[in-house]
Amino acid sequence: MNSDVKIVPLERLTAPVLAVGLGSQIVDGKVPSSLLGLDSQLQGAMSRVLESGDFKGERDDFVAIYPSKGPKRVLLIGLGKPAEITRAVLRRAAAIAARKTIALGIEHLAFYVPHESRGGVPPVVVGQVLTEGAAHGAWQFKELKATDDKRAKLKSFEIIGAREERGDLERGRRIGAAIGIGQKLARNLQMLPGNVCTPTYLTEIARLLGKAYGFKVTALDRSHLEKAGMYAILSVAQGSAQEPQLITLEYHGAKRTAPICLVGKGVTFDSGGISIKPALNMEEMKYDMSGAAAVLGTFEVLGQLKPEINVVGVIPATENLPSGTAVKPGDVIRSHYGKTIEIVNTDAEGRLILADALSYARRFKPACVIDAATLTGAIVIGLGHHAIGLMGNDEQLMSEVRKAGELAGERCWPLPLWEEFRDLNKSDVADVKNSGGRAAGSITAGWFLREFVDGFPWAHLDIAGTAYSDRESAASPKGPSGLGVRLFSEFILGRAGG
Ligand code: BES
Ligand code: MN
Ligand code: ZN
Repeated sequence: MNSDVKIVPLERLTAPVLAVGLGSQIVDGKVPSSLLGLDSQLQGAMSRVLESGDFKGERDDFVAIYPSKGPKRVLLIGLGKPAEITRAVLRRAAAIAARKTIALGIEHLAFYVPHESRGGVPPVVVGQVLTEGAAHGAWQFKELKATDDKRAKLKSFEIIGAREERGDLERGRRIGAAIGIGQKLARNLQMLPGNVCTPTYLTEIARLLGKAYGFKVTALDRSHLEKAGMYAILSVAQGSAQEPQLITLEYHGAKRTAPICLVGKGVTFDSGGISIKPALNMEEMKYDMSGAAAVLGTFEVLGQLKPEINVVGVIPATENLPSGTAVKPGDVIRSHYGKTIEIVNTDAEGRLILADALSYARRFKPACVIDAATLTGAIVIGLGHHAIGLMGNDEQLMSEVRKAGELAGERCWPLPLWEEFRDLNKSDVADVKNSGGRAAGSITAGWFLREFVDGFPWAHLDIAGTAYSDRESAASPKGPSGLGVRLFSEFILGRAGG
């Protein structure tokens, strides 16, 4: 999807679709002054729609007008109460408009939000979130259909603005477009099944990104992992014929500053291993590499925007399968960090591979480390599908991450890593065991990770409830959300100074 900022009087626009975001207060009064020109072009059609009460501007309200001149269709999209219009509301409206446009079989969308309906969101942010939203709504996955998929593709998105805000809208659009590209990569990777998106496939993608943008990329396979003593990763991988990979990407955008380190769980399929999962919905476990996808997507954003900051990505990637060589409940292994682990449940594999990755991250002397992982089913029980579970060892970092999540529309909610919870991971034979049982399942998983965090501020994002959706909404199809790319990008851009 191409995006652009266009300065043109609405009444002169000849787009096939013009979407107009409107807040609900406007409907009670008249057509907002910024739309009077368009309304007269439409021969008062907009006034009549608003007067009829059929469109009240409530969130996700929607009506189409077919004028005789100017844009072929005008889609009014409700934004809700003006005081409650936020960047998230505008992002969502653009996504809905993109989806409606595609449903109409149309490839071009122009979008306009009058000042009265922006809820005080500044032009640079309007440019960013509308572009993010349109890219989000435009996403489709057709790669694996052998028969023709006739759905239209959204080819271009135009933000219609006023002359004096052009520079700001354009600056925001550029950021939104980069984030849109990164999120698309993440969602495509998530969507790919386990037989295509293997650990080595993730390495290939990392190498492609490295080539395209000049990142340093390394990958350790089974033999290298053995030399490095990374038996937590190896224990998960030992049941699979696929070669495990510990992938690192290094983006260098500033001199002599400690990097931000992003770690993403890359289990390309999680069957549970010997502690095998039930068959129902097991296919969803192809999404167990969503953390890895978020890291790779974020590196695409870095390559596009080149902010002045250093970032390292670390992706432990493996399958988790049962076999004659698979790790068994009760097995004890030694981690890269040095602590021994009793593996009481082979389905708690994410924390094992992250343990070694977090330990490995020390070599980069990171300013901070943030991991993203589809780690626990318990987070879905605790927070459902609208909040990321946030844990960590540093209040300041956690509040910075939360702020980034708010900006990104990928909100986090904190869970406590109190000392009492730590005891649940105590093992009779080893230093720790990899499952603390059912109680506080997300917190004990967080505490397990913390056992391998040494000397840096660290935040953990449990994205098991948010990385994908099993149902469609107005703004998104069912399937992968690409979550994490926006949060990571906001965090990095915030630290880089915008
Ligand atoms: N990948 C799963 C977590 C998950 C569950 C992700 C649902 C997405 C949706 C993880 O590896 C896992 O199996 N966790 C176990 C841990 C338990 C065995 C301690 C779980 O949550 O049941
Ligand atoms: Mn598992
Ligand atoms: Zn898993």
